[in-house]
Amino acid sequence: MKVIEIKNLTKDYEVGFWRKRKVRALDDLSLSIDRGQIFGFLGANGAGKTTTLKLLMRLIFPTNGAAQILGRDIQDVSMHERIGYLPENPYFYDYLTAREFLDYCAQIFGLPATERKKRAADLLARVKLDERRWDTQLRKFSKGMLQRVGLAQSLINDPEIVFLDEPMSGLDPVGRREVRDLIAALRDEGKTVFMCSHILSDIEVLCDRVAILKRGRLAQVGYLDELRRKTEGPNRMEVMATGTDARKLSRHLPKTEIAPTPRGLRIEVASEDQIDEVLAALRKAGGKIVSVQPVTQSLEELFIDTPKAN
Ligand SMILES: Nc1ncnc2c1ncn2[C@@H]1O[C@H](COP(=O)(O)OP(=O)(O)O)[C@@H](O)[C@H]1O
Ligand SMILES: [Mg+2]
Repeated sequence: MKVIEIKNLTKDYEVGFWRKRKVRALDDLSLSIDRGQIFGFLGANGAGKTTTLKLLMRLIFPTNGAAQILGRDIQDVSMHERIGYLPENPYFYDYLTAREFLDYCAQIFGLPATERKKRAADLLARVKLDERRWDTQLRKFSKGMLQRVGLAQSLINDPEIVFLDEPMSGLDPVGRREVRDLIAALRDEGKTVFMCSHILSDIEVLCDRVAILKRGRLAQVGYLDELRRKTEGPNRMEVMATGTDARKLSRHLPKTEIAPTPRGLRIEVASEDQIDEVLAALRKAGGKIVSVQPVTQSLEELFIDTPKAN
């Protein structure tokens, strides 16, 4: 079931003072996202990720296009009770403590006092904010601590979908790991996560499906392994072998690319059908097979060099 449907979403910002002109930050974005997935929205700085989330959260209005969340138009305010949002630069009420801030957020959703208290404590523990700081004013928090409070805030209404804008930003490696585990746990609970990042590794390890945004345009969308194989052609295979050398082997495999590497010879073929040929040639050349695997492209290559990029 699709829980997010985005259709032709477009946003122009007006910039300049004397001579106003329009800058297209998001250009005709269409996407749909299944329930229970971690969806990764990847793009360099300025690609339009935050703009997309702000449009979905109804913080800014589209120049064109529409979107539905949980089957309701994004203009439907009652739907917003069922979703959570971590902004890129969360604005916090500086003089509230972490606990007070969460209590305040819970009040917005009309939760009774006892429930608010329980949720605030559960969530602060869940985002691993040091318990000794729960009653410290937010103005004394580091960026990483604020990020944890922001995450807790996005979950205060036990949302079905959580929108996270750069959830790992400001965190050290241990913090990134903890937030990563938390996001994975949200999926295990059946929640849908829509997360933005400009950091490939964060998306790569967590997300089921990924969209790559380039200068406001959707450049790629799909499951990670699907995306990686796309540009290399569907069936390219890599055979690693030892026990022989490139010259000897190439006599039996004249038309195939053979490259010596520190791990042995790397033989790349266009499809699985050619593997038997490679095996036969290896046997003749006295070589041994080490591994056979599909050729995949790292997401990084895809991210940097996408065919449809403008
Ligand atoms: N309020 C604004 N006014 C004018 N231009 C904006 C505004 N917000 C964002 N932009 C521009 O829109 C583009 C997309 O920005 P943004 O959505 O923040 O990208 P990302 O989150 O992927 O880094 C950028 O070129 C940015 O400069
Ligand atoms: Mg952003």
